This record gives sequence, C-alpha cells and structure tokens, in this order.
Amino acid sequence: MDSLKDKKVIITGSTGGIGSAITEIFVKYGANVLATGTNDEKLNNLKKKFQNINTRKFDISCHKEIEKFVEDCSKTLDGGPDILINNAGITRDNISLRMSHDEWKDVLDLNLTSTFLLCKYSIKRMIKNKYGKIINITSVVGHTGNIGQSNYAASKSGIIGFTKSLAIEYAKKNININCVSPGFIQTNMTDKIDPKFKEIIVSKIPSNRLGNPSDVANVVIFLSSDLADYITGETVHVNGGMYLG
Ligand SMILES: NC(=O)c1ccc[n+]([C@@H]2O[C@H](COP(=O)([O-])OP(=O)(O)OC[C@H]3O[C@@H](n4cnc5c(N)ncnc54)[C@H](OP(=O)(O)O)[C@@H]3O)[C@@H](O)[C@H]2O)c1
Repeated sequence: MDSLKDKKVIITGSTGGIGSAITEIFVKYGANVLATGTNDEKLNNLKKKFQNINTRKFDISCHKEIEKFVEDCSKTLDGGPDILINNAGITRDNISLRMSHDEWKDVLDLNLTSTFLLCKYSIKRMIKNKYGKIINITSVVGHTGNIGQSNYAASKSGIIGFTKSLAIEYAKKNININCVSPGFIQTNMTDKIDPKFKEIIVSKIPSNRLGNPSDVANVVIFLSSDLADYITGETVHVNGGMYLG
C-alpha cells in the first residue's frame, strides 16, 4: 500500500458509517484526504479524530456547484484529486405505487447524477495528471432489487452501468474506475431497518452477520492502490456471500 502515501483523495459522505471507515484507512496509509459531508458537527468530529485531513462542507445535490467544488478541492489538494471515492448516498423508501416523484428524483439526483458530475469534473484533472482511480459505492440492492427501494435500486444499478462505460472510456488515460457493492453494513442507514426485518436479512447472509464499515473500506483501499492497476470497470461485492440471483 506504499503507493497511497501522499495521494490526493476526495471522499464524499466521509461523515457516515462507511465513509468514516474509508477516511480512516486512507489516513492510515498516509494519503492526503479531503473529507466531505453536509453536517458541520460531524465534519468537526472527523477533523478532531483525524487531525491531518482537510474537511469541506458541501451538498452534492447542488449540481450546478459541483464543478466549482471540484476546482476548490483541486486547489486545496494541489492539483488533485488522484483518487475520488463517491460514497455519499441516501434512501427515500416507499412502495413504488406510493412513491412520490420527489422521492424518486431525490435519490436518482443524489446517488446517480451527483456521481456522474463528480466523476466528470475530477476526470478532467486526472487526464492532466495522467493518473486516476475512482471508486463508486453501489449496493447489493442494485443487483437484487428490494421492496420499497425501486428508486435506490435504480440509482445503484445505474452506477454500475455508468462505471463500466467510464472505465472503457478512460482506461487508456491510466484512470481506473470500479465499483464496490456492499451488502448490509452496520451503519445509520441500516439502523433504520425494523429489527424483525433485520433478523430475516441476517438469516439470508451466509456469514450470518451484517458487515462492518471496515469490511468495505478494506476493498476500497485495495482498488485505490497500485495492487489493482489492472482492474477497471469491475464491481467487487462485500456482502458475506449473499445470493445475487
Ligand atoms: N449501510 C449499508 O448497508 C449499505 C449497503 C450498501 C450500500 N451502501 C452505500 O454506502 C454508502 C454509504 O452509506 P452509509 O451506510 O455509510 O450511510 P450513512 O451512514 O447514512 O452516511 C451517508 C453519508 O452520505 C452523506 N450525504 C447524504 N446526503 C448528502 C448530500 N446531499 N451531500 C453530501 N453528502 C451527503 C452524509 O453526510 P452528512 O450526514 O454529513 O450529510 C453521510 O456522510 C451509500 O452510498 C450507501 O448507499 C450502504
């Protein structure tokens, strides 16, 4: 993992369960991290925990401001990013017949369109630098579907097709773009699930437990390192062996 030392990294959703674990592992390997989220208190806590990072408050659903956001990050990171981790994500669950247009749109706009724009503006820098790694966080639900999550499943499946296409477009530019697809991981997002339903979920996981955020971060760091230089357009599953159909 020596290749990660001083690499300039943008991580979205750093304040969340999986994002904090990803931030922690990049700090451990000596990367220059710019951590983002929307909540001041959580960002301050992150800064206290990992003193050697930059933090930036930014709502990635503000699409018109993403280009400027990436420019600002690039200045802070002295020409980076070398690595972009698109991890921020939301759910707005509802059975599809009751799902409002806003619930549909909010999830697609944030999970998929913001990922597109963050990639687009970061890739411009990566082409100049002749180097880049992008990891987009998708979900098992993008492969299997899930009751009440048609919007979320569509956004996460969309990320996979989008990633494969980008990977082909930029492989010759020395930019690797992959997905990590977590199963059910112990974070705020899964804390919202009814405990009875959670038991059913765990009974379907061969490893017989929810994942830990670090289980996901360990794969993200591998794909971000030079150990994964010949891997692009792939999705790595981190789900305790769940059946994907
Ligand atoms: N947990 C799971 O079981 C699981 C499974 C599969 C995939 N995933 C995916 O993994 C990723 C991380 O999930 P998590 O479980 O760690 O969720 P989480 O704890 O709820 O964290 C979500 C993160 O997204 C950020 N975020 C939300 N809205 C944002 C916005 N408008 N602009 C910028 N940042 C925003 C949050 O920042 P603030 O709080 O600062 O706003 C937070 O840092 C998501 O993409 C999720 O879909 C999770």
